[in-house]
Amino acid sequence: MSDAIAKTAQKAGTTAMQRCILPTCAAVSGIREQIYLCPRCGGPLEIEIPLELLKAVPDLRERWHARAASHDPRDRSGVWRYRELLPFDGDAPVVTLFEGNTPLYDAPRSAQYAGLTALRLKHQGCNPTASFKDTGMTTAVTQAKLLGARTVVCASTGNTAASLAAYAARAELQCAILLPQGQISPAKLAQSMDYGAIICEIAGNFDDCMRLISELADVPSIYIANSVNPFRIEGQKTVAFELLEQCGWRVPDHVVVPGGNMGNSSALGKGFDEMLRLGLIDRLPKISIIQAEGSAPLAHLFAALGPSAAMAEAALPDEIVPVANPSTLATAIKIGAPVSWKKALRAVLRTHGNIVTVSEREIADAKAIIGRDGIGCEPASATTVAGIRKLVATGQIHVGESVVAVLTGHVLKDPDYVSHYHRGTLSFESVTAEGAAKTVPIVGKFRNAPEKVAPTKEAILKSLESRR
Ligand code: F0G
Repeated sequence: MSDAIAKTAQKAGTTAMQRCILPTCAAVSGIREQIYLCPRCGGPLEIEIPLELLKAVPDLRERWHARAASHDPRDRSGVWRYRELLPFDGDAPVVTLFEGNTPLYDAPRSAQYAGLTALRLKHQGCNPTASFKDTGMTTAVTQAKLLGARTVVCASTGNTAASLAAYAARAELQCAILLPQGQISPAKLAQSMDYGAIICEIAGNFDDCMRLISELADVPSIYIANSVNPFRIEGQKTVAFELLEQCGWRVPDHVVVPGGNMGNSSALGKGFDEMLRLGLIDRLPKISIIQAEGSAPLAHLFAALGPSAAMAEAALPDEIVPVANPSTLATAIKIGAPVSWKKALRAVLRTHGNIVTVSEREIADAKAIIGRDGIGCEPASATTVAGIRKLVATGQIHVGESVVAVLTGHVLKDPDYVSHYHRGTLSFESVTAEGAAKTVPIVGKFRNAPEKVAPTKEAILKSLESRR
């Protein structure tokens, strides 16, 4: 590559801007302004990378591919490998744990269960803190360093907290996390303790924690690392690039993700869109979002839009009706008022995807089937395979189409859930129409409880025979 082209590639990252996504406003702010919402109208912000500049760089795909073999710390990160499309310049103080570079697996048992010929699983649980959050935290914490923040904070259902705690530790920044008390998997909480974060257990749910975060946003020394922060989305969008690379740049027909606060779906939408606008792909995959039945505000809104959902994005609804008391055993996505719902809905509408719900039982069985493919994920991630099964049954995904499900967290994030499922002791607190609480047992189809076996060769062989 010539020096001139190298300079162009470099310049693209530094001439990025922050822009309000609402077409009626579209106000622009500088890239190093510490803001989370549009200062003019309060709308969601997005980073605008000057893609026109990058179009002059002829060999982007080859450059990215070649970096996989380099020893530059930025090249060993599956996020910074794509740095031409990140809003930083060459001497940014990159805070990395070598995130990204996660596997894309074939999953034949899950495919059969979902009613597909083939299904691939992109396992974002294979990141340094075992969830997809790391890909966005590397960029958000790097921006925090550039801004000279003293403290980074987030509200979390567990994974964002663990990830921020780790990256803050690497960056030697103070970290405070707000967690809904008693609603976090102990494994996730343990990670945050280990990484040295200040852990504030809040009497309330995730949405209450998020409200507190918005109150902290005006303290200059504090930097907010929730996915409302557009720098999180910049890192997380690179999963789209990595996935396309792993697919040999053949665009899958469908990419399916779980939906909680909606940062992940927003980021995937942005990533694929940038690849299309750069001419590196010629169509978009349909992005579909799956929510748990008891925590599904965006699925309700999507259903209410009806067939007019093909509408222009200029007509994005202004409001979403939050779910007041969200419930699901998939605690990662127990969220009633998702912050990034507008960006996520825009991504689904733009790509003609879907937003559907799945039940607790469907999530639990899908998780166990993914396990039978030798791939361990946490409950929220399994909404994808449960949702794909539903979309195949209703004809919205066809048997022979190419489908990728994004698994967002590792199985060891929530071992209690797994153990209860397999021992047949998993149950769910549901609220009846009259407002009374009712315990609903989840009797899984694929239970696999340990059995007591006598300490003899015969007993072991008998046990094997009985399970053939
Ligand atoms: N899957 C897992 C494992 C998660 O931890 C989350 C979100 C999601 C899916 C949903 O992704 O919010 O981008 O739509 N966890 C956040 C947290 C809320 O605090 O860890 P999303």
